[in-house]
Amino acid sequence: MYDLTKHFLADKKQILSKIESVLNRGILEMGEEVEQFEENFKKYCGVKYCVTVSSGSMGLLLALKSFNLSKNDEVITVSNSDIPTSHAISLVGAKIKWIDIKANTLNIDEDIIEKNITKNTKVILPVHMFGNPCKMSKIKSIAKKFKLKVIEDACLATGAEYENKKIGCLSDCSVFSTNPGKILDGIGPGGIITTNNKDLYNKLLQLRDYGRRERPKKWPVKSYIVGYNSKMSTINAAVLNIRLKKLNEYIDLRNRNAEIYKEILFSKKIKFQHTLQEAKSAWRNFTIRVKNRDKIFDKLNSINPLVKLSYIPPNHMDKCYKNIKNNYDLRITEKTSSEIINLPCHQYMTPNNIKDLSRNVLRLVK
Ligand SMILES: Cc1ncc(COP(=O)(O)O)c(C=O)c1O
Repeated sequence: MYDLTKHFLADKKQILSKIESVLNRGILEMGEEVEQFEENFKKYCGVKYCVTVSSGSMGLLLALKSFNLSKNDEVITVSNSDIPTSHAISLVGAKIKWIDIKANTLNIDEDIIEKNITKNTKVILPVHMFGNPCKMSKIKSIAKKFKLKVIEDACLATGAEYENKKIGCLSDCSVFSTNPGKILDGIGPGGIITTNNKDLYNKLLQLRDYGRRERPKKWPVKSYIVGYNSKMSTINAAVLNIRLKKLNEYIDLRNRNAEIYKEILFSKKIKFQHTLQEAKSAWRNFTIRVKNRDKIFDKLNSINPLVKLSYIPPNHMDKCYKNIKNNYDLRITEKTSSEIINLPCHQYMTPNNIKDLSRNVLRLVK
């Protein structure tokens, strides 16, 4: 969610020269840059295994698929996420159990997970909303107690931290998006799955590549399980390698920007997204909650089109789920979704850009 031309120009020379060398070599699928990126990203996260995929959405789907969920299995998640989170659960044929969020963090309410677990629950799928880590210590201990898997939707949280560890090494697996505009982004759709589990890793490698265990050097090539074509392009991985070197710098600038927003916007009429003491957010956006949101948003968006509303409607109220019986208690999800405005917080914003936008927010909120 920022000016992608500016982003390209920041590393133009390196990106063009890498693209040229990849094109000259002619290995556009699963080239060496893909493996290099997987190596680099797993080191970045402090995790054992990393599998690149074609998008964050596919990453979620493959992660769920790898746990062999069947029709009556339930996945506990939130409804205030981007719609692919819920779609991935529906596409593997499992049941979505949306539970409510905490208004201050905008993340899954870890205190109500346990009472929502049934004999059919198999997975907890927390989403680090807008880059803000969930209470992973509690989520992991509940998962351990009930023998559930945890898949983190970290699509907005690349580079975020929990208890001084990068998101990506904490649970059964974590899924990131590298779609253009994400915190770490390439030049087309892309995604990453990280895990410390070797069996899961091997399964994911097959699921992303037609069920194969090796790339076809010589035919016949065997397909061991029914899989997808969900590979990352070599050019995309090459660009991600360049930008990964700057990811910590991006995160620090985003954190600096968030602090400037907090200082200027501090007011009884504006609520901020709370970051847990043990966490460091990646600040995909600086999310505020205000009354009279729609009016304020329209004006702000006309001043700065990077001011966004996301994600509305909540997943359970979206058209594609209209046939699901709505007996969920999602009061906080519904209330906050009518209050949220996402302000840009990216690394190319200067303190003055933030001050200008904040002044406009204050003028409209009063
Ligand atoms: C929370 C969340 N999950 C999943 C996705 C899907 O990622 P992708 O767009 O790479 O498929 C997104 C995309 O924005 C997202 O915000």
